[in-house]
Amino acid sequence: MKTDIRIYHGDIVFAPSAKKLEENEDSYIVVEDGTVSGIYEHIPDDMKALPVTDFGRNLITPAFSDLHVHGAQFVQRGIAMDCLLKDWLNDYTFPQEAKFKDPEYGKLCYDAFVEDMLRHGTFHANVFTTVHRETSEYLFHTMEKKGMYGFVGKVNMDCHCPDYLKEDTDRSLRETEEFLAGHTRPGKVRPILVPRFAPVCSEKLLKGLGALARKYQCGIHTHLVESRWEAATALECFPGYESDAQIYEKTGLLGHGPSIFAHVIFPTGQDTEILKHYESFAVHCPEATNNVIAGIMPLKRLEIEDVKVAIGTDVGAAGSLAVYRQIAKAVQLSKLKEFYEPGEGKTITLAQAFYHATKQGGELFGKVGSFEKGYRFNALVIENMEDPWSPLSAAKRLERFCYAGDDRNIMERFIDGVMLPKLA
Ligand code: GUN
Ligand code: FE
Repeated sequence: MKTDIRIYHGDIVFAPSAKKLEENEDSYIVVEDGTVSGIYEHIPDDMKALPVTDFGRNLITPAFSDLHVHGAQFVQRGIAMDCLLKDWLNDYTFPQEAKFKDPEYGKLCYDAFVEDMLRHGTFHANVFTTVHRETSEYLFHTMEKKGMYGFVGKVNMDCHCPDYLKEDTDRSLRETEEFLAGHTRPGKVRPILVPRFAPVCSEKLLKGLGALARKYQCGIHTHLVESRWEAATALECFPGYESDAQIYEKTGLLGHGPSIFAHVIFPTGQDTEILKHYESFAVHCPEATNNVIAGIMPLKRLEIEDVKVAIGTDVGAAGSLAVYRQIAKAVQLSKLKEFYEPGEGKTITLAQAFYHATKQGGELFGKVGSFEKGYRFNALVIENMEDPWSPLSAAKRLERFCYAGDDRNIMERFIDGVMLPKLA
C-alpha cells in the first residue's frame, strides 16, 4: 500500500532526554503513516512536490501523558482541597465514587472526562475508575473510540472503607477477572489491576489479584507511600511486610506487566530498590501533593537511583486535567523542597519536567511522547505565546505555555498522525 506522507512546518520542540529541550525553529517534520520519519531545516528534494501544512511560528510539541488520574473524580475537581487525604477520601471522594453504580451518571461523567483530557492535549492516560465494572467498561470503550492510548483499571477495595463501596473479596476478584478476560485483544487501551492502596485491601485480595496478574500477564497501578498516614497504615494492615512496595511484590503483583506507583513521597530504601528492579514508574502529582497529600516527592533522589519518573494530575486531588500546568508545578515544588531541605541540589528545569510528562511517561504506552524517528505523531500545535514586539525562543514560549497558557492556546491535535476534529 502507498505510504501516506505528511509534512508540517513550525517551531518543533521536544525533550529527547531530561537534560534538554530540542528546538527546531522554522523546520519541517515529516510523518509517514502516522510515524515521525525526520525533522529537516529544508524539505528533502524527493518530497518537494508534496503539500506542506504551515503552522508558522506556532509550536509543534508531543502530546502529554497523564500517568495517574481518577476518571471518576473529574466531577469533584477543585473541591474539598482544604482537607488532607484521609478526610478527603472519607468525606468527599468515597460518597462521590459511589454514584458510579448508576450507569447513566457514569456515562455523563466519563464522556466529559475524556473530552476534557483531549481538550488539554492528554492523549495517553493511566486511569483509575471505581469499584463498578459496568461504568469502568464504558470508560475503556470511550477512550478506545476516541483513539487514545491508555490503561484502565476497575478499582479493588475490600476493607477499612465504607460499606457502600466495600467489595466482597471473592466477588471483587471475579469481577476483575471478567474485566481482564474481556480485554485480551491487543489494543491501544489495555486493562490494568488497580488495588486502590494497601490500607483498603486484604492480603487475600492482593494475593488473588497477584494470581490474575500472572494469568493475564497484566500490570498494576496503585498509590504508594503517599503520606505518612498511608505509609504507616499500610504496614499496620500488613504485619510481616517490610515496606509498602514489598506488599505488592510478595503478593505476586509485580513483574507481569508495567507497574505504576502514584506519589512515592516517603520511599524507604527497599521501596526504591523494588521500583528500580521492576522498572516501575513513580508518578509525581505536584498539585495533588499540595492539595491533599502534603509531602514532596524526592524526585532527584529517585532519578539518581534510576527510577522512572512520570507526571500525573491525580484529578480530583487537583483542579484540572492540564498536565502542562503540572510541569510548571513540578519545577516550583522542586525549589520549595530545596529551600526546606537544602544541600543536594533538588531543583529541576522545565526541560526535565517536560521530559517526564512526555517522553518518559509516554514509555508506558509505546513509542509516544517524542519526535525522534520512529515515534508516533501524537502531537499538539500550540499558539506561539509570544508578544509580537518581543520575540522569544521556542523553549521559552513552551515554558510560558506551561505557566500561563491553557487549552485555548492548543490550536490542533494529532493522534497517530490524524488531525482530530475541532472540539466543541
Ligand atoms: N489514596 C487512596 N485513594 C486515593 C485517591 O483517590 N486519591 C489519592 N490521591 N490518593 C488516594
Ligand atoms: Fe490518586
